Formats: sequence, structure tokens, C-alpha cells
Amino acid sequence: MRCLVFGATGYTGRHVVSQLVQRGHTVFAHTRSPSQTFLPGVQVVQCAWSDDAIRTCVQEAAPDVIFLLLGTTQKRMRAEHASYETVDVGLTRMAAQAASTLEQKPRLILLSALGASEKSMSAYSKSRAHMEEAVRASGCPWCLVRASFITGPDRQEYRPLERGAAVVFTGLLRGVSALGGKAFAERYRPRTGAEWAEVLVHAAEEKRSGVVTV
Ligand SMILES: NC(=O)c1ccc[n+]([C@@H]2O[C@H](COP(=O)([O-])OP(=O)(O)OC[C@H]3O[C@@H](n4cnc5c(N)ncnc54)[C@H](OP(=O)(O)O)[C@@H]3O)[C@@H](O)[C@H]2O)c1
Repeated sequence: MRCLVFGATGYTGRHVVSQLVQRGHTVFAHTRSPSQTFLPGVQVVQCAWSDDAIRTCVQEAAPDVIFLLLGTTQKRMRAEHASYETVDVGLTRMAAQAASTLEQKPRLILLSALGASEKSMSAYSKSRAHMEEAVRASGCPWCLVRASFITGPDRQEYRPLERGAAVVFTGLLRGVSALGGKAFAERYRPRTGAEWAEVLVHAAEEKRSGVVTV
């Protein structure tokens, strides 16, 4: 497959890029920064987030699959004067709209989150619903992977709240498992970037459509 990865510099994105390369796919890794480096064999696409530049990037890569793995955090929002709506939703929508201009429509694989809902009180969960809607509206085939926690010791950025919440959640799932909900607990357990990358890459290879929760 020819694969274009947006969010290639992120925790999950880097694992997706390396697993795709290992599995023999052609990989285009998008980055906004010239200082980012990737594995040998990866075609680095460095361009700004503007409609024209992203459309050109998508048209030149002519991918079979586009991975949408973008996201900001509360800390980054403060530093970059951004929001979930401008980054997670806005950039995902820009990439999805660029994909929709291709004659041969690529499959869009979005990394979303459990609890994505327009009705949610949480800005984060609401924005996941908006990201999902942007993908659905593209006219391309799509697959939405709703992840629980994405956390692991190999995440370069220190995120104590995420780690702490994942530990508490894992404890709750242990209780669920002990009460007979083993399958439920396994399904929703926090996973590392590499584990989620495996789910995303398999979804692409198997041409999965619809909502995937593992
Ligand atoms: N953490 C969790 O437990 C969890 C659970 C479920 C779903 N998710 C979602 O899954 C997705 C991927 O998560 P992750 O932890 O792998 O992501 P991550 O490590 O935080 O990486 C985020 C990616 O988004 C890009 N990005 C961030 N701010 C940007 C901006 N202002 N402009 C352009 N690009 C920007 C980053 O590029 P740069 O390197 O250039 O900054 C990076 O490639 C996110 O949408 C996240 O919300 C996370």
C-alpha cells in the first residue's frame, strides 16, 4: 500500500510509520517541522498546514490509505494558542477534504477515542465526534479506531496525568475482570503506541470500515 501518515511525529504515529515500513509498504510521513527525522526508507513530506499545501501533498503522494493521528494537549494548547477544534478537528478536516479531491479515493483511518460523542460535556470527547464527522463527510472509505488510553514507557513526552489515569483505569478493569468481565477488560485496557499502531495498520491492510474498538 501507499500510505500517507499525518501525525507521523507523534507517539502512535512513529510506531505506525515504522510498522508500515517493516511490512513493506510505501510510507509518506508528513511533518510540519524540518528538524524531524524518520527511519531510512520513509519519504518525508514537510509542508505547512494550509489547504493548498496539504492538497498538493496528498495529490503527490496519491495514497491508498491516509492515517489521521493528529492531536494537541492542554499543555500544547496553552503554548501554541490552539484548541482541540483548531488542531485535532481543523487539521483532520483539512486532510480529509484534500483526500476527497483524489479521483481514486484513499481509505481514511482515524485514531479517535472511546467516548467520542457530540452530546458529551467534555470538549475532548466532543471534538473526537467532530473529527469523526469530518472523516465520514469526506466521501472516502473510512475506519474510526476508538482507542482507550494510549500510554507507555516509550512515550517521549512526560504525561503524568495520562499515566496516572491509565493506572487507575487499569485497576478498575482488573475489578471488572475479576467479576467475570475478562473480555471487556481486555478490550478496553490501555495500550502502548506500538499496540495501537498494530490495530491501525491491520485495519488498513484488512480494509476495515466503520468503527473499531479492538
Ligand atoms: N493519549 C491517549 O490516551 C489517547 C487516547 C485516545 C485517543 N487519543 C488521540 O489519538 C491521537 C494521537 O495520539 P498520540 O498520543 O499518538 O499523539 P501525540 O504523540 O500527542 O502526537 C500528536 C501529533 O499531532 C501533531 N500536532 C500537535 N499539535 C499540532 C499543531 N498545532 N499543528 C500541527 N500538528 C500538530 C504533532 O506534530 P508535531 O510533532 O509537529 O507537534 C504529532 O504528530 C490524538 O488525537 C489523541 O487525542 C489519545
